[in-house]
Amino acid sequence: MSEVVKLEIDGKVIELPVVIGTENEKGIDIKTLRAQTGYITIDPGYKNTGSCFSSITYLDGENGILQYRGYPIEQLAEKADFLEVAYLLIYGNLPSKKEFDLFKSSITRHTLVHEDMKRFLEAYPFNAHPMGVLSSMVCSLSTFYPESQNPNRAKEAIDMTMHRLIAKLPTLAAWAYKNKMRHPFMYPQNDKSYCENFLYMMFAMPSEEYKIDPVVVNALNTLLILHADHEQNCSASTVRIVGSSQANLYSSIAGGISALWGPLHGGANQAVIEMLDQIMADGGDMEKWVAKAKDKDDPFRLMGFGHRVYKNFDPRARIIKKACDDVLDKLGINDPTLELAKKLEKVALEDEYFVQRGLYPNVDFYSGIIYKALNIPSEMFTVMFALGRLPGWIAQWKEMVENGDPIGRPRQIYTGETKRDYIPLEKR
Ligand SMILES: CC(C)(COP(=O)(O)OP(=O)(O)OC[C@H]1O[C@@H](n2cnc3c(N)ncnc32)[C@H](O)[C@@H]1OP(=O)(O)O)[C@@H](O)C(=O)NCCC(=O)NCCS
Repeated sequence: MSEVVKLEIDGKVIELPVVIGTENEKGIDIKTLRAQTGYITIDPGYKNTGSCFSSITYLDGENGILQYRGYPIEQLAEKADFLEVAYLLIYGNLPSKKEFDLFKSSITRHTLVHEDMKRFLEAYPFNAHPMGVLSSMVCSLSTFYPESQNPNRAKEAIDMTMHRLIAKLPTLAAWAYKNKMRHPFMYPQNDKSYCENFLYMMFAMPSEEYKIDPVVVNALNTLLILHADHEQNCSASTVRIVGSSQANLYSSIAGGISALWGPLHGGANQAVIEMLDQIMADGGDMEKWVAKAKDKDDPFRLMGFGHRVYKNFDPRARIIKKACDDVLDKLGINDPTLELAKKLEKVALEDEYFVQRGLYPNVDFYSGIIYKALNIPSEMFTVMFALGRLPGWIAQWKEMVENGDPIGRPRQIYTGETKRDYIPLEKR
């Protein structure tokens, strides 16, 4: 017999079914709670609430486990190609050679964006944050492909939207940067790999040959894989919620990009470098800044520390820390920011406040340092995260649609005024 839990409310006992996942995660199914009792549950920030059933990513925050479709992140980060991982997340299995060739060629053929999009880009102020540009440009894609607005279109048409998104995001991201620099846009080149092409569009200039460093390509491939999915985080949940109204995939992804932008989510990697620069400019007194982070009257937090689900260590941070050392070593970079980051990590890890609360460096702590070493400006860090996270968002959206999940619509406990009568303006 399947497991149930008993809940006593107002003297009445009701039974609620227990749901168990393939990794033995347990949840209480409260779908009938309100109908049976009139009560709802309250859980701001959804710290204890499962919003869906998902077979994409398994994450065990206590034991630092992260798996995409069953494959450990450590193996994928070491051995796989980012587009292989994108295919895995979206379609459920690693591709065969033939499937991968078809997928890659579809992505490669759609890297160009409509020339009119270039005109939009040119209209942004030179200091526009590239995340704002990216989110708007991705939403604008829906106007160039109006068929994407039909929620009942054929599977092949949906595949095409997903491939277009993966193909065009690096172009839009690199062009957002070029526009900011007021440098000429570089068009994608189809003989290059996904990561090579992005680096080429970011850093090449029409006036001279651009040599792509394989160390940089490998580091970028690893970073994109580490960011590719992270189950029901703020941006993935946003993509699902927007998509649950049957809004098109482009606008759902634009919503995810906006959610990622915040410093408590993907924006943390930019915030880490800004914080390290600030500490350095202030004389590098680590104890002072750690004390500020602990002070409840001070809004300062150590950026890149802490995570909603990882309370012992972030497995991505372990991989990225090693990748960070490798990249700096191979590129011969002696970065004082990295030295400061290492000192800060040591001070915080030994501090009772951080130990008690399970606050460890997360993926953003080191990714900012690698991006800096790769010459990527700090305002582009979150854009890099978005490039990596795109296949995860697409996979989450696809699963939500295929599972026929209902429109996302939480309830609330109302705490405002009770009913009162309108008073005409002259009497107030
Ligand atoms: C990621 C984050 C939003 C998780 O938030 P959360 O799960 O809601 O955890 P809380 O904000 O409730 O934090 C729990 C406790 O740790 C403290 N804390 C959490 N992160 C902290 C940080 N980076 N620096 C100092 N204190 C921190 C909180 O003040 C709180 O203390 P309290 O219990 O005494 O009130 C949070 O750790 C944070 O803001 N980190 C910095 C931003 C960051 O790196 N984000 C990237 C995530 S990948």
